Order: sequence, then structure tokens, then C-alpha cells
Amino acid sequence: MSDLVTQIHFTVNGESKVLKAPPMKRLLDVLREDLHLTGAKEGCGEGECGSCSILMNGDLVNSCLIPILQANEAQITTIEGVAITEQLHPIQQCFLENGGAQCGICTPGMILATHHLLKKYKNPSLLQIQEGLSGNLCRCTGYIRIFNAVQAAALTGVAE
Ligand code: FES
Ligand code: FES
Repeated sequence: MSDLVTQIHFTVNGESKVLKAPPMKRLLDVLREDLHLTGAKEGCGEGECGSCSILMNGDLVNSCLIPILQANEAQITTIEGVAITEQLHPIQQCFLENGGAQCGICTPGMILATHHLLKKYKNPSLLQIQEGLSGNLCRCTGYIRIFNAVQAAALTGVAE
């Protein structure tokens, strides 16, 4: 097996990071193992469940599918970077209040997908919410409470 490593420079949750890693190491593993940001979860490991979702240059991506080389010079936001203070971000608060999280495995990805959706649509329709979260699977909530949480978050004007 090759022991090739490459130097990566990127920004994670507003902080500049430089590290060495095998170029094909998954961004999900770099976040969790090298940077100890364990909010992004591994569900399927093959781009189907969205539990590893993060924002890369403003796009919602599955970090299990991104080789770290591709993240060089990128701006990354993980769930740890969503709440700027010790208080929950309004989207997180709405998930809490509406029962949009049960086991929590899908929740970091759902919150980031909601963040991405509300940047696009300030007041999304139910269909737009369903489409916006279609890459994020949840085994627990039945989705209705998640959709309610997203609608509640939109009403807070969080996207403005
Ligand atoms: S773990 Fe990445 S999409 Fe499922
Ligand atoms: S809350 Fe358990 S998978 Fe969504």
C-alpha cells in the first residue's frame, strides 16, 4: 500500500487548517479522526444516507465521498461550526422544539441540509423542503417532525 501523503490547507468552521494525509483519505475521516470533529456521522459510507453531510464552499456534500485532496483550499462548515456561541443555532432550536431529532444520527446532516435549503429559499414550500432534504435519510422520526422543524426555522428568519 502506498504511504504517499499530501499537504492539505483548508478552512474548517472559520479556522485555517494545515495537515498531511493520504490524498484519497475521505474528508469524513479527516474531520473525525484528524480534527476530532465527530458531528458528521458515518451511516452508509456510500453517498446514500446524508448523515455525513457538510457544507463545502457553500454546497451540501456527502463527506464520505470526498477525497481530502478535493477539499484542498476549500471552505468547510460542519455541524460544530453552525452555532457560533454556546447557544443553539435557531435551526437546532427548532429541531429540538419540534421533535425533529430522536437518535440523532441523521440530525447533524439534517441541520446542515436545512441551513443550505434556507439560504436558497427563505420561505420554502413543503415540496421544496422535501426536495431539499431528500438526500438525508432518517430512520426514527417519520420526517413530519423534521419538516415541521424546517418550517419553524424558516419563520424565525434565520436565512436573512
Ligand atoms: S455516510 Fe455518507 S452518505 Fe451515508
Ligand atoms: S433521528 Fe434517528 S435517524 Fe433520524
